[in-house]
Amino acid sequence: MSNHTSQSPVTRATLERMKQAGEKIACLTAYDASLAHLVDAAGIEVIIVGDSLGMVIQGKESTLPVTLDDMIYHAAAVARGSQHALRVVDMPFMTYTTVRDALQNAARLMREGAAHMVKLEGGARIVEIVHDLAAQGIPVCGHLGLLPQSVHQLGGYRVQGREREAAHAMLEDARGLEAAGAALLVLECVPVDLAREITRAVSMPVIGIGAGPDTDGQVLVLQDMLGITPGKRPKFSKDFMAGQGSIQDAVQAYAKAVKDGSFPAPEHCF
Ligand code: KIV
Repeated sequence: MSNHTSQSPVTRATLERMKQAGEKIACLTAYDASLAHLVDAAGIEVIIVGDSLGMVIQGKESTLPVTLDDMIYHAAAVARGSQHALRVVDMPFMTYTTVRDALQNAARLMREGAAHMVKLEGGARIVEIVHDLAAQGIPVCGHLGLLPQSVHQLGGYRVQGREREAAHAMLEDARGLEAAGAALLVLECVPVDLAREITRAVSMPVIGIGAGPDTDGQVLVLQDMLGITPGKRPKFSKDFMAGQGSIQDAVQAYAKAVKDGSFPAPEHCF
């Protein structure tokens, strides 16, 4: 499926090699050991233990109430269930407002939650924090576009970067995060052209969700792509369970569609 063998753990270097080779990176969220095992066994390169667990697992209205202890609990479960995938764990809302807090909280995610990398939302305002985390040997994944932790400031879950000025600012944010030492970037709900421009402008791998087909890889919330999220499925997601006999088959179908470029299709893009 990818150029890492099923025995070798995926590392930051694996993802960099995949970007250079033009090989798509398949990524999914997971929050528990049994589904993490299944995702891992299907050859998914990156598992994100997202703070989306606040909505998906805890049934809350947003990601804002998720605590560091919640993240540690779920990250540790995912770590027990997975062997090969690189595990990226979200730093929850307000746990990285100062360098000191960010260092202490990221260290807990790595020590107690066995995270390989931590993910922070934001651009210029977190560049100094990203720099200090990276300088201490903590791999960082940035997150630009729709920032769920800022949903109330953004005025809802909507596509970001449609206007020229906003698009330019996002491109500069991506460059700033990379210069500060970020190793990976998630782009959420961003127009196709802007996502392509950002992906080409940075050397770190870029993983899209609702960001079109031209990012280096794709991520979906596992429950969305299994079609079990209550309510309306987001436009950028697809029910991979349809026509499949098992969760394992659905995850494999997703990985294949990411690898061969058939997902996302135009109807999943902005
Ligand atoms: O919290 C989350 O699940 C995420 C993914 C959308 C990448 O940030």
